[in-house]
Amino acid sequence: MNNLKTIITASVCAAFFNLQVRAADQEADTNIAQTCFECHGQEGISNNPDIPSLAAQQPDYMIHQLKSFSAGNRNNPLMNKIAAGLSDDDIVKVTAYFASRQPRSAGGNPVLASAGETDVETCFECHGAKAQGHRYTPRLAGQQPQYLVTQLKKFRDESRAGGVMNLVADDLSDENMEVVAAYLGSFQSDEDALTP
Ligand code: HEC
Ligand code: HEC
Repeated sequence: MNNLKTIITASVCAAFFNLQVRAADQEADTNIAQTCFECHGQEGISNNPDIPSLAAQQPDYMIHQLKSFSAGNRNNPLMNKIAAGLSDDDIVKVTAYFASRQPRSAGGNPVLASAGETDVETCFECHGAKAQGHRYTPRLAGQQPQYLVTQLKKFRDESRAGGVMNLVADDLSDENMEVVAAYLGSFQSDEDALTP
């Protein structure tokens, strides 16, 4: 009887302890994410043309990029330092947080955007029919156009290693990049993309 009591007390205590740990975990997630809002915007919606939105970005892609920043394989002085300060556990939690946020269109230039429609079909093959991304291939829909152009130029001059993207960007002129990025950035919702 006493044994049973001990077991019950122990399991009630364990359950309570677990709840407390879980509450503390959630708080830690939001605390880390809040340090990212300063640059990536509230809830991961960036208002800065040079900084990417993280809302609804693919978690595997973000994990991979944070590890690349941390190892110095992707170069950005701000992010190299920030990523190096995150533990593996922090990275999994903070990317899960941003992946679950609602995306929003960065706007884009509608005139350039309609010109970009014709060039963009090949991008959907890998980035998804709605440019929503998949696993290690990022979401592009609604992303800041200027950020997208900068990254395409980095892939083209190979200052950012991106495997197949180094080849894709090789075939794009500056003008192609501008129109395609304006088109992708202008997506209001996942329903806006062409159906290939
Ligand atoms: C001081 C500003 C700043 C802060 C704070 C910051 N970032 Fe960044 N982040 C940037 C910039 C700028 C880039 C774009 C780097 C580039 O051009 O390659 C970036 C890029 C990224 C990317 C790559 C996105 C993509 O589409 O490839 C990820 C992921 C990321 N940041 C996550 C985070 C997380 C998580 C935090 C918080 C722990 C954070 N950042 C805090 C400035 C910041
Ligand atoms: C064969 C597959 C493939 C095709 C086709 C492709 N991409 Fe990509 N793209 C990728 C992968 C994989 C990555 C992630 C690279 C990395 O890990 O850094 C990527 C990354 C990017 C990024 C970086 C986004 C960010 O958040 O930093 C941009 C911009 C991009 N692609 C634009 C395009 C455009 C525009 C097209 C069409 C002209 C295109 N891609 C076609 C596979 C592809």
